[in-house]
Amino acid sequence: MTIIDHHSSYQTQDLIAADIDAYLLQHQHKSLLRFITCGSVDDGKSTLIGRLLYDSKMIFEDQLAALEADSKHLGTQGQNIDFALLVDGLAAEREQGITIDVAYRFFATEKRKFIVADTPGHEQYTRNMITGASTADLAVILIDARKGVLTQTRRHSYLAQLIGIRHIVLAVNKMDLVDYDQATYESILADYRNFAAGIGIHSFTPIPISGFIGDNITSRSANMPWYDGPCLMTHLESVEVDSTADQAKPFRMAVQWVNRPNLDFRGYSGQISSGRIRQGDLLRVLPSGKTSRLSRIVTFDGDLDEAVAGQSVTLCLADDIDCSRGDVLSVADEPPQIADQFEATIVWMAEEPMLAGRTYWLKLGTQMVGATIQAPKYQINVNTLEHRAAKTLELNAIGVASLTTDKPIVFEPYSENHDFGGFILIDKMSNATVAAGMLNFSLRRSQNIHRQAIDVTREAHANLKNQKPAILWFTGLSGAGKSTIANLVEKKLHRMNRHTFLLDGDNIRHGLNKDLGFTDADRVENIRRVGEVAKLMADAGLIVITAFISPFRAEREMVRNMMAPGEFYEIHIDTSLAEAERRDVKGLYKKARAGKLANFTGIDSPYEAPLTTEIHIDTTILTPDEAAALIVEELLK
Ligand code: ADX
Repeated sequence: MTIIDHHSSYQTQDLIAADIDAYLLQHQHKSLLRFITCGSVDDGKSTLIGRLLYDSKMIFEDQLAALEADSKHLGTQGQNIDFALLVDGLAAEREQGITIDVAYRFFATEKRKFIVADTPGHEQYTRNMITGASTADLAVILIDARKGVLTQTRRHSYLAQLIGIRHIVLAVNKMDLVDYDQATYESILADYRNFAAGIGIHSFTPIPISGFIGDNITSRSANMPWYDGPCLMTHLESVEVDSTADQAKPFRMAVQWVNRPNLDFRGYSGQISSGRIRQGDLLRVLPSGKTSRLSRIVTFDGDLDEAVAGQSVTLCLADDIDCSRGDVLSVADEPPQIADQFEATIVWMAEEPMLAGRTYWLKLGTQMVGATIQAPKYQINVNTLEHRAAKTLELNAIGVASLTTDKPIVFEPYSENHDFGGFILIDKMSNATVAAGMLNFSLRRSQNIHRQAIDVTREAHANLKNQKPAILWFTGLSGAGKSTIANLVEKKLHRMNRHTFLLDGDNIRHGLNKDLGFTDADRVENIRRVGEVAKLMADAGLIVITAFISPFRAEREMVRNMMAPGEFYEIHIDTSLAEAERRDVKGLYKKARAGKLANFTGIDSPYEAPLTTEIHIDTTILTPDEAAALIVEELLK
């Protein structure tokens, strides 16, 4: 027996190669269950997935056709050998796919079609699990019967609950290795039940299995007569996939793109997140708040009278109102909220710890804004569920923190709508996804604090001083000459009757920032505050000069973005580390080298040199006077 039925498999292969949608269409009458398998390393995940694919007899993955060819080649006949090959194939692919977060595998039975999110590579990392879980209806939590409930079991269960996966299966695997012992199974169950209740998982389906032997996978195992529940496949086939709940909620759709093939047609395309709409309904565009009637619901199969959650549609409005990608369409009388301050639960997924005060990109559906996280209120210990004090979140940590976006966003609490409450954070410099999170609620303070209009404007302040405000942002290693040159620049400008103010690192650290040290987090906060102060001073019409190491690109970029184009001058006072160390004006390098000063820039704390600057000063060529003259000259241009 081979693993793939020849006739249908090649057709299927072709069909999938040609068009995955067409394949799915073929199975359209069947419901779809998306699920994820999770657990610790070595708990038998590959074997289980292999077993499900193998036993479902409807495997249609590219590499499996190749495997089949291989097995014919080898002349293998027995089911076990084919099965072993399949598992090896999955494992090999997983090794190769070490950089892929999640591989999605499709299979189908007579009753239902399935997408299982398989997490290759670093299984211990939370990131894969989150990515796979975000769309899952069900999670299979695998436990090795010999080991019982482990930290990873708890972590994954906690995450599954946090993400809001509706169905949990506790698959106690490798029962063959514990002689199918009921008492072992029962004690693991009791253990898990205890933990699960603590995190709000009140119902789950426990199944004792052996992925390797095939016990309780597609049929009830004779090896465990004491078990009278369903086998895994039967359960997966019958668990309720509930889409009616989403349809009962108010209508929301994020606009993915604006469809404008010609001047006569303008439609807003996207997938309906929740609710239902009919032609003629009054819709609201957010965040603008404008309303208009729904005039057409367009799909590939023609116009519809009505559409519901889950459908991809193009909507036309009766009026020509502003609506673009990133906006949200909602039913007019029950719109989602708009806010810029939140309490959020954050799962940190990057090697570098979270930096409170740093601005990250926050992506929520089609909305993308800058967001700053405050130091966590607490971190959650997934083993004990205790709340621990934490200054930051490290890899895999889960915590709760306040978060501020630089523009208001349209949102709903994650518990009410996953599409409008779930987000990811992206590092602005590396573009890597560093965290996933859930908006719990907006902070009332953000609803109660409004901007006050002030009559004497920024322009008025600047006009009176007869100058254009600017920030001259000096950056460079300690001892590069920032303060010296900044001081000379200020003197020159002052002599030219310019209104200036110099903010210098060592001075500010004696006052406003005397609570800060030199950890990465403190440096981020140092620059955040200095940036805000510099901006206020520029608003007052001043030319502000700052002299801080400001070692991180992200924070310099943040200040740049607070200013209008052309108002921010990044000035790199460039000196090699060797030269700065040779000068060692304050004797700090010597101390740092002697191990008496920790986190010293250039030695055991990073300096990220600017990639582009307005002005670059090489202090090994120019004297401080020449450098200052050059800067003022550039400025006057
Ligand atoms: S920044 O990195 O946060 O921008 P800032 O410019 O405010 O640093 O302060 C740097 C000054 O603090 C240096 O010029 C030096 O005199 C002093 N200093 C003391 N400890 C350190 C340290 N560990 N690293 C860098 N500078 C230090």
